[in-house]
Amino acid sequence: MIKLEKVSKKFGIGPHALSDINLVVDKGEFVFLVGPTGSGKTTIFRLIIRELLPSEGSIVIDEWDIVNLPKQKIPHLRKKVGVVFQDLKLLADRTIFENVALPLEVIGIKPEEAKARVDDVLGRIGILEHKEKFPVQLSGGEIQRTAIARALILSPDILLADEPTGNLDEDTSWEIAKLLSDINAKGTTVIMATHDKEIVKKLSKRVVVLDKGKIARDEKGKSASAQRDEKEEGK
Ligand SMILES: Nc1ncnc2c1ncn2[C@@H]1O[C@H](COP(=O)(O)OP(=O)(O)OP(=O)(O)O)[C@@H](O)[C@H]1O
Ligand SMILES: [Mg+2]
Repeated sequence: MIKLEKVSKKFGIGPHALSDINLVVDKGEFVFLVGPTGSGKTTIFRLIIRELLPSEGSIVIDEWDIVNLPKQKIPHLRKKVGVVFQDLKLLADRTIFENVALPLEVIGIKPEEAKARVDDVLGRIGILEHKEKFPVQLSGGEIQRTAIARALILSPDILLADEPTGNLDEDTSWEIAKLLSDINAKGTTVIMATHDKEIVKKLSKRVVVLDKGKIARDEKGKSASAQRDEKEEGK
């Protein structure tokens, strides 16, 4: 569970990037985070992974108080929460395999075990055939899949995806969204920040709307059974 209570964030002398955010995301939920550019989506993600500290308020993930988390626990937090960053952050001079293996290398997993785990994730995400290529040799959708694979390599409980379909064509965007939905169906909590209205509409999940740093709306998604009923009625 992720729980933000009365969270505000102010950078320097500017206006509040976030103000009085109250948000609970239960284990196993899929949530879209939407809102105009600058409304605070990425800032929420950066607070959740303790890349930033809030100016006010509390952030709790499961039993962990993120604001007061001791420094030595931050690597544990980063294992629990995988992130697909808006700017992707793939290393251009490393292959797809090496990029995805990097978090394992950092925590000292042995090369043989790392290889098995990376091959497994690349297979599940559908890019195993590209593992020896460099990022520049891949399409936008394949790059996006690589970033998702890297975010999943430490088997996180929570996946934060920051505009994972930006710059992709409609079909590829839909494939990426379905991939995230499948990952969620297998138990991972997913929060996806997006500007893609079509995908939000099609997936019928919970939608949290931010506007100028505040939660403007929080719309519950349709339950799986309601979606099935609609399908049967041919709506
Ligand atoms: N490091 C920073 N220093 C100063 N201001 C910042 C910093 N990071 C973000 N902001 C400001 O905080 C506000 C929220 O930014 P944020 O990146 O969270 O928006 P966003 O909803 O993710 O936008 P986009 O849809 O364009 O990605 C913006 O006004 C932004 O300029
Ligand atoms: Mg952003």
